[in-house]
Amino acid sequence: MTGFADRVEHVSISGIRKVFEAAGEDAINLGLGQPDFPTPDHARRGAIEAIESGMADAYTSNKGTLQLREAIAAKYDRDYGYDIDPADVIATSGGSGALHLALETHVNPGEEVIFPDPGFVSYDALTRIADGTPKPVPLREDLTLDPATVEGAITDDTAAFVVNSPANPTGAVQSEADMREFARIADEHDVLCLSDEVYEHILFEGRHHSPFDFAETDNVVVISACSKTYSMTGWRLGWVVASNRRIERMLRVQQYGQACASAPAQYAAEAALTGPQETVREMVDTFERRRDLVIDGLTDAGLEVPTPEGAFYAMPNVPEGWCDEVLDRGVIVVPGDAFGANGEGYARLSYATGTEDLKQALEIIDDATRAVR
Ligand SMILES: Cc1ncc(COP(=O)(O)O)c(C=O)c1O
Repeated sequence: MTGFADRVEHVSISGIRKVFEAAGEDAINLGLGQPDFPTPDHARRGAIEAIESGMADAYTSNKGTLQLREAIAAKYDRDYGYDIDPADVIATSGGSGALHLALETHVNPGEEVIFPDPGFVSYDALTRIADGTPKPVPLREDLTLDPATVEGAITDDTAAFVVNSPANPTGAVQSEADMREFARIADEHDVLCLSDEVYEHILFEGRHHSPFDFAETDNVVVISACSKTYSMTGWRLGWVVASNRRIERMLRVQQYGQACASAPAQYAAEAALTGPQETVREMVDTFERRRDLVIDGLTDAGLEVPTPEGAFYAMPNVPEGWCDEVLDRGVIVVPGDAFGANGEGYARLSYATGTEDLKQALEIIDDATRAVR
């Protein structure tokens, strides 16, 4: 009888999926991990025109089209003043594809990968798929990741640590001082810092900071995507930016595992990145208004919740039985322990859903909280 590889047997199906399966058909869904906005028209048109002219019929370069990589480099110059060589970019199948490339390329069997707990579910799973050893670390009270915690968890076997700001599932944003520290840790300990920046534009206060800006070595690899910024989760287009020697290694994984990112998606992404950016601002303004509504509602219900400064999630501290009670009353939330053992006692609420639904959900949450107290 054929068996299965241990690396796959040790990965379970995401707890988020389980909640969706348990929910009734007309439940209000605060479990979603994608913006509830359409992809901008000019991005869609970029793909349509490429398809109609036959440009999207063939493989592109393994790294992605030069025009797309130039658009990604120009984006980094426009947003942060970085000087990125388009040769140091690989277009991937979403941020997920980029995370996979980075971990496959940098983690030897048994080597450790440190990541936030609670944190995005893929860090644990992709570490296992790379035959690495997951090393989840707890967060501060305000749900940010303390560089000192990361530094304390580094051993001789550490290959990488993951920084994610703004973060899923917490909405927390790391300070500039933290990012400087993460860069220093990557430099001094000679470990890879994987900076997952897929929510870089969904930020309500201040500006986005990356350890990439502060590192003196090439030990920081940046991952981002069109998925959240342009509401393009279905298009599957992300990228990784790193030094040339790292890109050339990651390209070996990309070349044989994927060949290249989907060509129509590459043309859509190029149009999204080079076209008007107003839709991003409008979406972020809407998320900020909803964030305020949700935080007020949760606080009025008597729950403690750090104010998220980015992404579209809130993560309140909840009493025992709360998630089941809320789900029974028709509101889908994700129990915090779906994001790691330290997520127990929390729940993730996504406000990527309309205001009227949010208001109704908050009323239900208020009643449910009273019922379990
Ligand atoms: C923190 C984080 N990183 C990466 C991803 C993957 O994004 P993509 O849809 O571009 O693969 C997600 C998706 O939810 C995410 O929340």
